[in-house]
Amino acid sequence: EQIEKGGYEHFMLKEIHEQPKAIIDTYRGRMLADQGIIKMAGVDDHLEKFLNADRIIIVACGTSWHAGLVAEYLFEDIARIPVEVEYASEFRYRNPIITDKDIVIAISQSGETADTLAAIKLAKSKGAFVFGVCNVVGSSIARETHAGAYTHAGPEIGVASTKAFTTQITVLSLIALKLGKAKGKISNSLFHSHLQTLQLIPKKIEELLAIDDQVKHIASVYKNATNCLYLGRGFNFPVALEGALKLKEISYIHAEGYPAAEMKHGPIALIDENMPIIVIATSKGHYEKVVSNIQEIKSRSGKIIAIVTQGDTTVKEIADHTIEIPETEEAFTPLLTTIPLQLLSYHIAVFLGRNVDQPRNLAKSVTVE
Ligand code: G6P
Repeated sequence: EQIEKGGYEHFMLKEIHEQPKAIIDTYRGRMLADQGIIKMAGVDDHLEKFLNADRIIIVACGTSWHAGLVAEYLFEDIARIPVEVEYASEFRYRNPIITDKDIVIAISQSGETADTLAAIKLAKSKGAFVFGVCNVVGSSIARETHAGAYTHAGPEIGVASTKAFTTQITVLSLIALKLGKAKGKISNSLFHSHLQTLQLIPKKIEELLAIDDQVKHIASVYKNATNCLYLGRGFNFPVALEGALKLKEISYIHAEGYPAAEMKHGPIALIDENMPIIVIATSKGHYEKVVSNIQEIKSRSGKIIAIVTQGDTTVKEIADHTIEIPETEEAFTPLLTTIPLQLLSYHIAVFLGRNVDQPRNLAKSVTVE
């Protein structure tokens, strides 16, 4: 096992560090940035279906559901296709309205999640075209779907999903870009520049991984918190949910993710000097609005850990801690903002002596209801 961990203390840490390579493996052979081409057989072979679809329904569970939420923002923004994101467990039991003009995208790292598999079977029985985004090759979901795209993240052993999430977002970004271009919803120049931007992401993740000591220090300050709040807007709202899930899963600290603007409708009541609040405040993501949320937190003595874009000065003055991410297009910031949140959860869990790779009560793959 020590050999499999490749010198890392835990699989989770190894998998966090594998993300630059995993993302390159995901787009290798698919994204030809210099030529301005995205090739994905699963989409190319069924392009008409995608172009004529009335809407896309995404079904998934857990972290994969969060990747689906990021995809909702990507598909709607880049390809202008209406998207609904459903928990597979809810979708399968509520007699959903599905037609043969719908495309269902099922996202699953393992490809074995029982609820997601059942949702796929239901969607197929109602005539939908079902596309799978899986990591495990030859898995049940990969076999049950009409077409699909593998994430090629490599084996993910840690129960808390890390590289599966960022590679899922990568695949879904490629699909959104491909459809946006095919539908004429995105200009050629923006398409080209988005590909160049995506190509730089692995290098930027490398840069972020280098600030691990800073994140570890922040983890040492807040390791005894009993509650944490994660806030984000737009593309980074799902990242806030994912950050909170990661902390819950491996540290057993109660955490909630919220859209930043919803804070005033409830979570604000929880804020006091004992409450760490992680706020994603990237420079192009409704920045001023998030800054005013941060000020509201400050005036209630909450402790602020802000994820900001390199060079930020405004938030730095207010927040207790800031973690800088390299500049990129807002649509692709989830691939970066996620990284420090993974590391934060990891270090807190290690400080607390938790079983990081196999947290209590959780399974890597939930094959029963
Ligand atoms: C379990 C795992 C999570 C995962 C979820 C969905 O809860 O612990 O990490 O996100 O299942 O799994 P899937 O394999 O379908 O992505």
